[in-house]
Amino acid sequence: MAARWPPRAAWPAASCRADLTAAVPDDVAGAFDFAYDWEVLHHVFPDARALYAANVHRLLRPGGRYLSVCFSEADAPAFGGEGKWCRTPLGTLLYLSSEQEIADLFEPLFGIDELRTVEIAGRHGTHLAIKALMTRRA
Ligand SMILES: C[S@@+](CC[C@H](N)C(=O)[O-])C[C@H]1O[C@@H](n2cnc3c(N)ncnc32)[C@H](O)[C@@H]1O
Repeated sequence: MAARWPPRAAWPAASCRADLTAAVPDDVAGAFDFAYDWEVLHHVFPDARALYAANVHRLLRPGGRYLSVCFSEADAPAFGGEGKWCRTPLGTLLYLSSEQEIADLFEPLFGIDELRTVEIAGRHGTHLAIKALMTRRA
């Protein structure tokens, strides 16, 4: 995924597509009050997660908030498997998280406001997901 960050002057109307496991340009640091991922983080594998978390932190202003909803490791049976890794019917490989992993990953950079496992509706049934709401530390 190529990073295509529009100049900050073009925001907030601009949209862009960028890899959150690659470097974020200085121009967009602190540009956002709020960020969320809906079913994104389970596509980011463990070796890339520290950079992902640092990038989310960098994109938000101090005090900005981040909401993450990603599949839980307790959801593996919904994909017909068990454990941390699972393959979807589309062939995509996912890494399923525990609440502790999410806390360990983000706590150095964010105050965790809410962290719990929730049920979310999917196309072929419900899934167990980890919902994490947090606030960027300065
Ligand atoms: C299951 S889709 C969810 C998309 C959308 N949130 C939704 O609910 O329809 C996963 C999304 O994660 C994005 N994604 C995966 N890895 C990414 C990365 N390293 N940086 C940015 N986005 C990523 C993909 O481009 C894809 O749009």
